[in-house]
Amino acid sequence: MGRVRFAVLCALLISLAACGDSNVPLDRIDPETGRWYTAELAAAGSAVFAEHCAECHGDAAQGAVADWRARLPDGSFPPPPLNGSAHTWHHPISVLLQVIDMGGESLGGQMPGFGQVLRDEEKLAVIAWFQQFWSDEIYEQWLTMGGAN
Ligand code: HEC
Repeated sequence: MGRVRFAVLCALLISLAACGDSNVPLDRIDPETGRWYTAELAAAGSAVFAEHCAECHGDAAQGAVADWRARLPDGSFPPPPLNGSAHTWHHPISVLLQVIDMGGESLGGQMPGFGQVLRDEEKLAVIAWFQQFWSDEIYEQWLTMGGAN
């Protein structure tokens, strides 16, 4: 059951990716970070994350449990790590923004949507913040897989 829901969630994320059209400034590289975001933006995301996300995803985006793939007793999945050790880097930025907007509750998940809670720049800032934990290798793979889309 949980696995089916997870498959549905993934299918939805993939379809969103296909039609996603984000206005994210990924066409330039910040000279300081070597990535799409400035150090300032990522620093701003720290407070957003601490207030809205850390209770579930952990202070350093490390996730809630050792095995993020194992279903909880209610059949839902635990909050995964966002620090590059799970599969967050499989999603382009348009999909990450959609997840933050919509959450997973409508698909049987546990994450609330933040579409009405956070401003667009706060959503980008929080993504920048957890991407700082990604190794350069993971970040490059994300880009290669169309992360900028
Ligand atoms: C109440 C707990 C909770 C809160 C608060 C929460 N999340 Fe989540 N998040 C989850 C769970 C659980 C999932 C897995 C999908 C689901 O069940 O909804 C998830 C999934 C995600 C994913 C997809 C990860 C992947 O690898 O596919 C991202 C990105 C994400 N959350 C970011 C955030 C951000 C950013 C915030 C704060 C603005 C946040 N979450 C707040 C519980 C939470």
